[in-house]
Amino acid sequence: MFEKLLAPGRIGKMELRNHVLMSPTETHFTSPDGMINWAEIDYYVERAKGGAALITTHQMQGNTKIDPIDPYPRSARFDDDCFIPMLTELTEAVHNEGAKISALASPGGGAQALGMPYDAGTLEDIPNVAPGDIECPVAQRKVRKLTVEEIKKSVEVFGKGCGRLKRSGFDAITIHAHCGYLIAEFLSPYFNNRDDEYGGSLENRARFLLELVASCRENVGPNMPIIVRLAMDEFIGDAGRCLPETIELCKMLESAGVDALDCGAGLFQTMALISPPVYYEKGFMADMTAEIKKAVSIPVITQGRLQDPEVAEKVLEDGKADFVSMGRAWIAEPEWVNKVACGDLDGMRRCISCDHCIGDRIASGNQTLRCTLNAMAGREHRFPYGYPKAADKKKVVVIGAGPAGLEAAYRLALRGHDVDLYDKADKLCGGEQIVAASTPPCKDNLMNVRKFYETQFGRMDNVTLHLGREITKETVSELKGDAVVLATGAIPIAPPIPGLRDNPKVVTAIDVLAHGAPVEGKVVIAGGGQVGVETAHWLAEKGFKDVAVVEMMSELSIDGELMTKLSLHPLLEEAGVKSYVSHQIRSINEDSVTVYDMNGDREFNIEADTVVNALGKKPLADLEEPLKEQFCQYYVIGDARGRSNICTGIEQGFITALKI
Ligand SMILES: Cc1cc2nc3c(=O)[nH]c(=O)nc-3n(C[C@H](O)[C@H](O)[C@H](O)COP(=O)(O)OP(=O)(O)OC[C@H]3O[C@@H](n4cnc5c(N)ncnc54)[C@H](O)[C@@H]3O)c2cc1C
Ligand SMILES: Cc1cc2nc3c(=O)[nH]c(=O)nc-3n(C[C@H](O)[C@H](O)[C@H](O)COP(=O)(O)O)c2cc1C
Ligand code: SF4
Repeated sequence: MFEKLLAPGRIGKMELRNHVLMSPTETHFTSPDGMINWAEIDYYVERAKGGAALITTHQMQGNTKIDPIDPYPRSARFDDDCFIPMLTELTEAVHNEGAKISALASPGGGAQALGMPYDAGTLEDIPNVAPGDIECPVAQRKVRKLTVEEIKKSVEVFGKGCGRLKRSGFDAITIHAHCGYLIAEFLSPYFNNRDDEYGGSLENRARFLLELVASCRENVGPNMPIIVRLAMDEFIGDAGRCLPETIELCKMLESAGVDALDCGAGLFQTMALISPPVYYEKGFMADMTAEIKKAVSIPVITQGRLQDPEVAEKVLEDGKADFVSMGRAWIAEPEWVNKVACGDLDGMRRCISCDHCIGDRIASGNQTLRCTLNAMAGREHRFPYGYPKAADKKKVVVIGAGPAGLEAAYRLALRGHDVDLYDKADKLCGGEQIVAASTPPCKDNLMNVRKFYETQFGRMDNVTLHLGREITKETVSELKGDAVVLATGAIPIAPPIPGLRDNPKVVTAIDVLAHGAPVEGKVVIAGGGQVGVETAHWLAEKGFKDVAVVEMMSELSIDGELMTKLSLHPLLEEAGVKSYVSHQIRSINEDSVTVYDMNGDREFNIEADTVVNALGKKPLADLEEPLKEQFCQYYVIGDARGRSNICTGIEQGFITALKI
């Protein structure tokens, strides 16, 4: 099983222990001046230990004098010898675990850069540099067109930097022509409006990249593999670079001595494609990669939702690519290859493509890397000896086997405590919230949460499951232990809107999604947060033709993760779901809902046969008082503590277990 994934491979002269690579993932740990540090080294080392054949670092800047803006807060640098010591620490540490490492080398962030200038610490009067004078519609920063002299200098300095990377112990250089940064902009007909030898025809647009390849080769010698990472299609229609042109480009790169092509898709304007959320099929980029593979004879690497070993193996088996590379699969499951190799498929944390790591943390939040499922991700450096054992063994009661309670129970057991886990549902993750959450289209992978904990508990002899056991105020006294963790989740709220309560035509989203409550005719969904929007999506897929979402805020799923929103909202539009943002529900009537248009200052009715209440939730923590009286150590986590989600629930379970 998984022969293709696990077979040794080779890129150029670089031997690889298997066919599973790790794609670049920013961590935001690098220091503001571009110095790699131990937090990220430890992050990479865990993935090297876990069996990755080749780790590609996050973006590193090779020329900050000509492109002085950090593409995103805290990318690394390689344009000075002062970076060599820490880069060497990184490569040595990864080599010690048997993996190879490639540097994602970039000459700059271009028009799309969103960080600060490395030196000045302020953006004042420093425009982004770009191939032409086109601003990036996402970054919306002023740009300055590079002169030919600067381009030549940039090529020279970049090459010297690649030599420095080689001296720092890297096994390969991955030239970063992906994600819409500077090289990608030169390649892009959208961004590159130069009329000299670096603009116009594909040959001219590719010149910068080809010169960088040559300069890199000159400095790293004939044996070090050079990989080019690029988008196969920018997905901005005819304005951008599309697959047929990329195929030509790939042939040019092969002729220029490039050893492998690392193929992704998209640029900032189409950023959801870069880390595709659940609404993209698993492995959907492989067919495009296959087209490139047909045109070249160097290895091609594919990526994009390949987190399931079955899917990844099939891509290789079908000959669509030579290697698979994964970003999020490694964040969620640092032991990905090791677990595949020993057949522990159920014991893997399978990434759910929620994009919390990239959308919430890195892109929108300017925060360090975290993962919904794996609370250790981004914290490896804080646990050099793993999750710690407790000094004294205790007996701990956990109430609620949703994500929060499950993680608490799992971590408590890892610490060596005896855990009694109670849930009124008859299975783990059997509560109505998580069942509802995994019901809308493409959301079934949330049940990966159950699979992981079920498997782990099956291997532990210190977790006792008490399923189908509701704890009530009356039965609390039967619980015995040194500490208790309350993780009973939340229940929907019903604000005092006339007609909302005790109305047979009003159902909650939970009723609909988890309990199959009947919905008929024209549907108005009250509340356009994640729950309302996903319920609308589900209803539209079920064939409901008249679904309207009413939301007080100015945008649907305003707090939702960026990539997911960018993908889901167009699907809702396509399905004809009507959206009333900046509208407030005033009352629910016999056959309509009265709404108030907050911008237009007017009231009107929307016809409704069913109203779905998706107006929010409140903690279900009514056991708090009796538990406090009975246990000296008492904790509330997850939705029971306050507004939360799977990520915060798991994180609180992880952190709380450390306190007991
Ligand atoms: C439609 C929808 C979509 C969602 N999508 C996402 C998403 O994509 N990503 C995300 O992060 N979050 C999502 N959420 C939110 C997410 O489901 C919750 O935040 C998460 O489940 C909370 O975890 P928890 O463990 O705190 O509580 P819960 O998952 O609610 O678990 C609580 C558990 O406690 C049990 N319980 C309650 N009372 C008792 C009692 N007295 N005795 C014994 N057992 C008891 C319940 O049976 C349940 O199993 C979504 C929610 C909905 C409704
Ligand atoms: C947190 C995070 C950070 C990323 N950072 C980078 C980056 O610095 N450079 C890059 O080219 N791609 C980056 N990516 C994209 C990934 O390398 C990968 O191509 C993408 O996530 C699709 O693969 P996956 O489905 O296996 O995650 C990042 C992705 C994530 C999730
Ligand atoms: S945060 Fe979500 S998308 Fe990112 S690695 Fe973790 S599970 Fe996957």
